[in-house]
Amino acid sequence: MTEAIVKMDTPFADSLLDRVPAPLVGTELPRIDGPRKVTGTARYAAEHFPDGLVHGVLLRAPFGCGRITKVDPAEALAMPGVLAVIRDERMVRNGGGFAGAAAPVQGVEEVAYFGQPIGLVVADSLERARAAALCVRLTFETAPGVFDMVASRETALPPTDDIFGLFLIHTEQGDVAHAASEASALVDAVWQTPSQSHAAMEPHASVAIWQDGQLTLHGSYQSPVVTRDQLATVMGLEPTQVRILSPFVGGGFGGKLGVMPEAVAAAIAAQQLGRPVKVVMTRQQVFEMTGRRPMTYQRLRLGADAAGQLTLVQHDTITDQLTGEVFFEPAGLATHLLYAGANRQVDHKVVRTNKLLGVSMRAPGEAVGQLALECAMDELAEALNLDPIEFRLRNEPERHPETGVPFSSRALVACLKQGAARFGWPTRSRDPGAFRDGEWLVGYGMSSAARGNLFGPSRARVRIEGDGRVTVETEMTDIGTGTYTILAQIVADLLGVELAQVDVRLGDTDDPASAGSGGSWGATTSGSAVYAACSELRVRLAAAAGAPVDAITLAGGVLTAPGIRRPITDLVGNGLAVEGVAQPGESNTRLNQTSYGAHFCEVRVHAVTGEMRVARWSSVFAAGRILNLKTATSQAIGGIVLGIGGALTEELIHDPRSGKVVNRDLGEYHVAVHADIPAIDVHFLEERDSVANPLLAKGVGELGVCGAGAAVANAVYNATGVRVREFPITLDKLLHGLPPLTSATSRT
Ligand code: MOS
Repeated sequence: MTEAIVKMDTPFADSLLDRVPAPLVGTELPRIDGPRKVTGTARYAAEHFPDGLVHGVLLRAPFGCGRITKVDPAEALAMPGVLAVIRDERMVRNGGGFAGAAAPVQGVEEVAYFGQPIGLVVADSLERARAAALCVRLTFETAPGVFDMVASRETALPPTDDIFGLFLIHTEQGDVAHAASEASALVDAVWQTPSQSHAAMEPHASVAIWQDGQLTLHGSYQSPVVTRDQLATVMGLEPTQVRILSPFVGGGFGGKLGVMPEAVAAAIAAQQLGRPVKVVMTRQQVFEMTGRRPMTYQRLRLGADAAGQLTLVQHDTITDQLTGEVFFEPAGLATHLLYAGANRQVDHKVVRTNKLLGVSMRAPGEAVGQLALECAMDELAEALNLDPIEFRLRNEPERHPETGVPFSSRALVACLKQGAARFGWPTRSRDPGAFRDGEWLVGYGMSSAARGNLFGPSRARVRIEGDGRVTVETEMTDIGTGTYTILAQIVADLLGVELAQVDVRLGDTDDPASAGSGGSWGATTSGSAVYAACSELRVRLAAAAGAPVDAITLAGGVLTAPGIRRPITDLVGNGLAVEGVAQPGESNTRLNQTSYGAHFCEVRVHAVTGEMRVARWSSVFAAGRILNLKTATSQAIGGIVLGIGGALTEELIHDPRSGKVVNRDLGEYHVAVHADIPAIDVHFLEERDSVANPLLAKGVGELGVCGAGAAVANAVYNATGVRVREFPITLDKLLHGLPPLTSATSRT
């Protein structure tokens, strides 16, 4: 197989996508996988029923810290249809919080958190396995655990690893103490965010098949290759002995990045029993056994001079995590680069707690970090008597304020200005509580948004068949983001074929490895691999037609060049295939690559009850070329919805005595739903980032959530005059600051 490599060592001045006469890329094309999903023919992990299938139900530790001293399976094993009660020390390993993490080892007897997987009951039906799981008798000794991060914050230590150099643990420059003493205006306060759950619609599910020393696993994973490597490590197998298939994934948000307990348990059971084993987590198990966004305790100290120039940017963050895990929530990530300021410090520390594994969740670090930073910016703007947009404009850096590196593209100012115009920001009253509509207090809030753009190695095979159909094969996944559609659009444009002629096959580790779905890099990395393959196929087609490649046009299945007109099917023989390889290069480190945006919202707070309603929303983003306006807009809206939930309702509550996740279903853990969300206006600026990749695009998946919650919090303040710094802003935290009840507003 021919390989075609695109390595980002120099800017990509001339993208082939800009030469396509009537491009599909950039349009609002509906998802090509949509019909399969709505008709139920898109098969998800749990929907596989191999012959001889049996069912496993995970056992969990019912205490937060200590040791299991005895497991008595006798009663369970005597029940009808029960095949095994499996305890295996490999079962309690997991894939950690991010792609590439080693699988940490916990002892089989030691319990580090409430809900830790400790065994699997296997039976010939799900019902029998569930019934038997209730009859496994455990004896255990509890030990004192650490369940309260805030109370234990003095024990916080630096994280053990900076995660591929991406999560900067500590940076400082200038003299922050001196800057604080000299500042004309200073904000120095603590913001707190709770643990959060990814709450993907599809629960984690795996069907494991063991045959002739080979393991095949139908699973729901964002990065099958990473999951395969972790699973192989856990199982003591070679990666070549494991195949993972995840063609359809019902949402991930980071919760399906690393291998999770159901896959490990299913694999062990299939190997031991020699039969296919299915393990589907219940909703409650997803909440208490997979992973969570860690909670944060963030001190921000921002100072400015009388002219409204930031002189001090200090962000000291504490998060929590299990002992031995390397992932940490990098809450200071955006603080490094969002605003200018000579004296700076960003710091991350971790408290080791006995609570569910902390993992990446949509915009790790940036989502909760910008929640705090953008609220602090609002407070400092007020202290300076400046409009919060004006304050941000005065602190726009020309280069990365810590490293001095130029930005590949940065349209924050344009986002702020256009967003303000779309929303009608100038009608805002700067005095909190000044705008009242009957019993509703009305506030406007805004924030900036920034999300680092990443690029990882990715491969895709593109094959033009003899009949003119085109097949794309890559291990990349579509977790609801639009990958199937975007890759088909790129192929259709670059090879000049109809969309209906393109077949995209995803999510199989036997196909060329991608960077997976994570970190907002999925579309750009897998799209770049497809670009590389198509670029080489164009060269091949041109050569077959005897035309210089720069002279050809491919459209409607026909190659044209001066004096030449040939159907593509005439040029490919029995088929033509190229494996495209996208590789990061110097461009990806020489310049800072970040997507930007600005959020604006109106929040109404009921003067009597404190009920909050987000009433209106506009966001403007700049993320390079937008590959599909519909799927990108959906990603932006989804992120904003997550931001609204984070601001107002989402909170994973841990029992302070055990760390147990108390609200472990979608009734008790409240994600924002339709009734909570107004029409959301999303606008993307025209932008091309030639430094990022050959598509000239940047990531969008995690951009929307960044800063969104802060816009809500700032609007709540503008409506009521109450600053709530402990998220979520539930109405009980507002009541003390609402206007006094009068006879006109009192009700029986
Ligand atoms: Mo994302 S948190 O890298 O799925």
